[in-house]
Amino acid sequence: MTVLLSTDGLRMRFGGVVAVDGVTLAVNEGELRCLIGPNGAGKSTFFKCLTGQYKPTGGRIFWRGRDITALDPFAVARLGVGIKTQVPSLFDGLTAMEGVVLAVRRLHGEAEARRRAVRALERLEVGDLGNRRIGLLAHGQRQLVELAMVVAPEPDLIILDEPTAGMSAEETGRAADLIRELNREHAIVVVEHDMQFIRTIAHTVTVFHQGRVLMEDSAEIVFKDPRVRDVYLGKAVA
Ligand SMILES: Nc1ncnc2c1ncn2[C@@H]1O[C@H](COP(=O)(O)OP(=O)(O)OP(=O)(O)O)[C@@H](O)[C@H]1O
Ligand SMILES: [Mg+2]
Repeated sequence: MTVLLSTDGLRMRFGGVVAVDGVTLAVNEGELRCLIGPNGAGKSTFFKCLTGQYKPTGGRIFWRGRDITALDPFAVARLGVGIKTQVPSLFDGLTAMEGVVLAVRRLHGEAEARRRAVRALERLEVGDLGNRRIGLLAHGQRQLVELAMVVAPEPDLIILDEPTAGMSAEETGRAADLIRELNREHAIVVVEHDMQFIRTIAHTVTVFHQGRVLMEDSAEIVFKDPRVRDVYLGKAVA
């Protein structure tokens, strides 16, 4: 199997807080990986290091074996890494189509951007929302349009930070199906809290706790592990 993205002892310190504390992890081409862990475990910070938004204070990041630790966000995006961040970054005044085209325009010309935007909205089954203003969409629809913005440039790796947050159970189920479908063409790393979602989609689950990888295994084994239950209940880890 070909390793797409990997980290070696990745660290990110903010003053006295070590948010990511020596994470070594590898994602294979075509993989669908779930990342879980309690609030403050360092999941979002880890992602921001991967995409060049934060300069890690230690360790290394590799893309197809090449050291990309020092690259800026634009250079990382151009390599083929897309991220849907935890905090929405939508422009409420734009239509869904305009928003998705804008997301692709960083990397491609206007005609190509339009073509990819149409395809992305269709893949997320929101092709009918193209002319609707983003600010007027229902929450679940907005999440899907945001997902289309990440998918449209057609990155090799898609990073999703809690893509189903605030969705209804039915919307979450549909999102799980869509993410599985996207995985046919893209490797995906997704942070999720919904256990049903994780069981449905994940091959491998990586558990973060206090900036470190607590364990990495199948969903079945991870959810049975008492250490995982303990960190979610806020108990100290043995
Ligand atoms: N920009 C920052 N400056 C200072 N501390 C930060 C910053 N970003 C994150 N932290 C701290 O780093 C730690 C990890 O935060 P992070 O947001 O990565 O966790 P998370 O696993 O994504 O949590 P959640 O599940 O709540 O999204 C926390 O203690 C947080 O307060
Ligand atoms: Mg987070």
